[in-house]
Amino acid sequence: MAIIYNEKKRTFSLHTAKTTYQLKIGNLNYVKHLYYGATIQDEDLIYLVRRYDRGFSGNPYESLKERTFSLDAQPQEFTTQQQGDFRINSIEVQNADGSFSFNGRYRSHKMYKGAFTLNGLPTAIATENDTVDTLELVIEDSVTKIQVTLLYSVFEEADIIMRAARVHNGGEGEISLKRIMSVNMDYMNGRNLDLVSLPGRYGQERQVERQPLTHHVHKIRSGRGISSHQQNPFIALVDRTANEEYGSCYGFSLMYSGSFIAEVELDQYDQARLVMGINDRLFSYVVGPGEDFDTPAVLMTYTHKGLTKMSHNYHNFFRNNLNRSKFVKDVKRPILINTWEAAFFDFDDEKLVEIAKAARDMGVEMIVMDDGWFGKRDDDNSGLGDWVVNEKKIKCGLPKLVSQINDLGMKFGIWFEPEMVSEDSDLFRAHPDWAMEIPGRRAVRSRNQLVLDVSRREVQDYLIRSINGILDSANIYYVKWDINRAITDLWSNVLPADRQGEISHRYVLGLYRVMDGIIKTHPDIMFEGCAGGGGRFDSAMLTYFVQYWSSDNTKPLDNLKLHYGSSFVYPVCTMGAHVSTASPMVPIETKAAIAMCGTFGYELDATKLSKEEIEKCRKMSGYYHKFYDLNFFGDYYRLTNPFEPVNLVAWECVAKDKKKALLTVVTVHLTVNGPQEYIKCKGLLPNRKYRITGDGNEWTATGMALMHAGVPVPREIPEFTAFLYHLEVID
Ligand code: DGJ
Repeated sequence: MAIIYNEKKRTFSLHTAKTTYQLKIGNLNYVKHLYYGATIQDEDLIYLVRRYDRGFSGNPYESLKERTFSLDAQPQEFTTQQQGDFRINSIEVQNADGSFSFNGRYRSHKMYKGAFTLNGLPTAIATENDTVDTLELVIEDSVTKIQVTLLYSVFEEADIIMRAARVHNGGEGEISLKRIMSVNMDYMNGRNLDLVSLPGRYGQERQVERQPLTHHVHKIRSGRGISSHQQNPFIALVDRTANEEYGSCYGFSLMYSGSFIAEVELDQYDQARLVMGINDRLFSYVVGPGEDFDTPAVLMTYTHKGLTKMSHNYHNFFRNNLNRSKFVKDVKRPILINTWEAAFFDFDDEKLVEIAKAARDMGVEMIVMDDGWFGKRDDDNSGLGDWVVNEKKIKCGLPKLVSQINDLGMKFGIWFEPEMVSEDSDLFRAHPDWAMEIPGRRAVRSRNQLVLDVSRREVQDYLIRSINGILDSANIYYVKWDINRAITDLWSNVLPADRQGEISHRYVLGLYRVMDGIIKTHPDIMFEGCAGGGGRFDSAMLTYFVQYWSSDNTKPLDNLKLHYGSSFVYPVCTMGAHVSTASPMVPIETKAAIAMCGTFGYELDATKLSKEEIEKCRKMSGYYHKFYDLNFFGDYYRLTNPFEPVNLVAWECVAKDKKKALLTVVTVHLTVNGPQEYIKCKGLLPNRKYRITGDGNEWTATGMALMHAGVPVPREIPEFTAFLYHLEVID
């Protein structure tokens, strides 16, 4: 058992391979958080918690005249409400009598083997190689009988703890949840912590920001109904001195695809509290007597070995424990060409076959028919919702088109945007009430489209039925699932007035049900997610999609930053990345080298490439295969920070046995007559000798030399050159 309960001390110690997390049933039965960090034994760490008389911080009634016990100054596992703790809280509930109060104290606990699951929400899965134990600890308000079960699954080898909370209304009347977080994490000393987050915008997702905690509430959030381009549902708290190799790093990845918040408060005593969960803005949820409400899960990891190790913990876990699709590991993903930047809406079946023929010579193995193949869809004003083939464009019909592609030895993929509807569509004409629009108001348009009320069963069933109909009608190998606007005008025509605050969350639950009904029922189809690029790239989506389109921005130099930022939490094998015609000054080989820091593919009109360009692409497609295992399954190292004014951007993928590595270096700036530059490798076997090839030279050096002295990068070259250095142990 990775979880040890000491009955005498009333402590729970949750052990992963390299970390310990400790909580304790403390005085007055409040559950205290004592520790999360490098492995310790099960000793009771209550000695860390000191009590003082803190002015203006209230004391629970039962502490009588004892003024040194205040919830405002004690580390807790989950918060109370209106019990004298004035910091950010993890629960706000309006009780059946109208009061806002929750005084949760230990009630019971149980422990079992395996991971917890949640109602309607994705969770990580235990594989046969994992040791996973779960603690469920119940706190209860003795007056209202509202219980919150704190769920912890400890993935021992992975150094990951998955947390969530389940509210149970054990009272007799309806309650309304105004805020309910998935995780509450108290730090007794938060003075020297930095907050790392991944802000961005459309076309520039997952950039990196790092800021010191100061005495206020730091809030990272999306209120856009999707996890968003603007903030990613991932944050880390790291030591001020932490760098790639050293220092404490705490990572939190929320498994949720809708509006979320992560808040961190540095309080008056320099304690820090972090909460993360569903965004409480435009949220309220009625829970009837006897009913449960589950929060999404959070994946937490800790390491004292710096940011790289934190990222590796996530990369390994995301590859192993999120998605059972055979396309994660067992079946090699084909090189694809996508028609979007090649033709936009302007294509027909013949054009697709032409592109496929030309692309085959580039080493492409699959063509993806993007937006524009269905309903009346010649631009973005119409057609969404009508998932029937447009026979004016696909004149031969879908099965025939797919078999023509298959006859070329290629696979076929298709695009959908299930959650949306155009006003000019048969679906909208038949069911105008399926679109979200608040009565008496006109809904916000975005890309000329409206959002379907995916919280409704009949809408979910329509999507499952119509999309499965297409998928089952032809030999489809791949699906790109897109969403191209944020969600506004939250309203459902089938819910009463007092439940409209539930729509945003019900939408997400509905979406997961639709995805279960389409994706999980098609194990032989490979699914890629997309939200106008990477606007919904999160760990919940990766339980469905083996890869996610990173950004609509295919400019290679911008992608250097995008990949760097994404790599803080997401592995290379999940980041969709294509070679396009954007940035003509960058050679196609460099574009391909950069796209190989992702799933690799093309996004251009292959019929317009010269013979020479086709040949170059063919060569780069060959590298994709050659380096597939290293890129997809190796350990990824950030070697330079592209947000700094660097001349070279470099990263490295090292095989698990460290005997092979791919070092990629891109020259982004060449100073005239500048100094020789070196890149230091990481993660190699220090005492073994490697052969290095990649810049026209071949030489040997020990791992030690390559890591401490580095690799000299040629200077007399055109700007924007990329080098793919292949390192292989020779003795
Ligand atoms: C946004 C996606 O990110 C693009 O790749 C493309 O699929 C368009 N939508 C199609 O409308």
